[in-house]
Amino acid sequence: MSRLIVKPAKRFDIAIDTIAPDKSISHRCAIFSLLSDKPSRVRNFLRAEDTLNTLSIVEKLGAKVDDEGEVITVTPPASINEPAAILDCGNSGTAMRLFMGFLASRPGFFVLFGDKYLAARPMRRVADPLRSIGAKIDGREEGNLAPIAIRGVEHLDGFDYVSPIASAQVKSAMILAALNADTPSKYREPHLSRDHSERMLKGMGADIDVAKDGTITITPMQGPLQPLDITVPADPSSAFFFAVAAAIVPGSRVVLKGLSLNPTRIEAYRVLERMGANVEFVLHEDKYEPIGDIVVTHAPLHGVTVEENIAWLIDELPALAIAMAAAEGESRVKNAKELRVKESDRIRSVVDNLRRCAIEVEEFEDGYAITGGRFKKAVIDSHGDHRIAMSFAIAGLVSGMEIEDTDCIRTSFPNFTQLLARIGEVENGD
Ligand code: S3P
Repeated sequence: MSRLIVKPAKRFDIAIDTIAPDKSISHRCAIFSLLSDKPSRVRNFLRAEDTLNTLSIVEKLGAKVDDEGEVITVTPPASINEPAAILDCGNSGTAMRLFMGFLASRPGFFVLFGDKYLAARPMRRVADPLRSIGAKIDGREEGNLAPIAIRGVEHLDGFDYVSPIASAQVKSAMILAALNADTPSKYREPHLSRDHSERMLKGMGADIDVAKDGTITITPMQGPLQPLDITVPADPSSAFFFAVAAAIVPGSRVVLKGLSLNPTRIEAYRVLERMGANVEFVLHEDKYEPIGDIVVTHAPLHGVTVEENIAWLIDELPALAIAMAAAEGESRVKNAKELRVKESDRIRSVVDNLRRCAIEVEEFEDGYAITGGRFKKAVIDSHGDHRIAMSFAIAGLVSGMEIEDTDCIRTSFPNFTQLLARIGEVENGD
């Protein structure tokens, strides 16, 4: 089990053009390529554990994957292969939930499995609506926990489903099921969650209409979709660790290059701006997604309340907690109960680790209140969660920090430590 030791850093002014490619989009590139009958070409695919697992599942389902370095070409099979082995999603909820929607109506028997953290995460949010339209899905606790077994059925009914949660994973699973259903479907969610699936599938020619009130109408595919030809932008959630670094190390500035500027992904940068940091967005292009740079410059931070648009910054809340702890005054996060069912219970892991750093925190069922103060160097337990490990590594730039159990960083951001070493002194331990 590896450890990371981070020493306090001096002011820095850097540009980063090697932020990890977007995880959500990379998963979707691999899975959606199965909806075409021609090869999809994907540049800048994220080569991290989570997305490589997804690619290898796509291969087990019969696709041919040619990795030519710069471009990965995924040639779909004529029909989905029934694999002899289980399909290992590793740490990824996105993979497991999207494959549930995709496989529900493919002929064959499929078993989705993952690591001990994924095996504890709720799957009924996808299994239940899928079963209500005819899917045959089972698992531990009545289909809630992995391993998840799917007996692909020939017919799925179209649906009119109002999701109780704003979740892009649930939405994407249902859209994938709807594309292969017998009749058109409608999907609604309480707030818009990240919309990569809608954008990419529409780009591939799927008949998906998003009304002004957010209702999504999905007409089943009449035949194979067009293949993807896409360059995956850098991941704004991964880049955000370095945005926080610039915001908390006095006199610093970072230029984060080539990020997705999708509005459903950059809300945390807007919160950092509200806290007092200087944040500039520079749009460069807009194909499947708006893409550009974000420049963050340090300025004294003050406390903030975050209780709206939670789905748009859910993955950045742990890193934002570090900025909150370094700010003047109190910050509050509310309406964020979903944090409890991420790669770890992120309310617990943020609260527990901030307390180790002598920061005053109050825990709520759906968030926390943080009183800004001075970080004390501490030993951090990542809880096996990549975003907790990276967030507290960033805090180490202020006070020094020792983070335990950091192998998880490989799930989303394999070059994180090298990039951190451009700013401060970092030691890897065992
Ligand atoms: C993701 C959706 C979000 C997010 C996760 C990736 C996706 O999860 O937290 O990291 O790629 O669809 P939920 O849909 O469960 O909110």
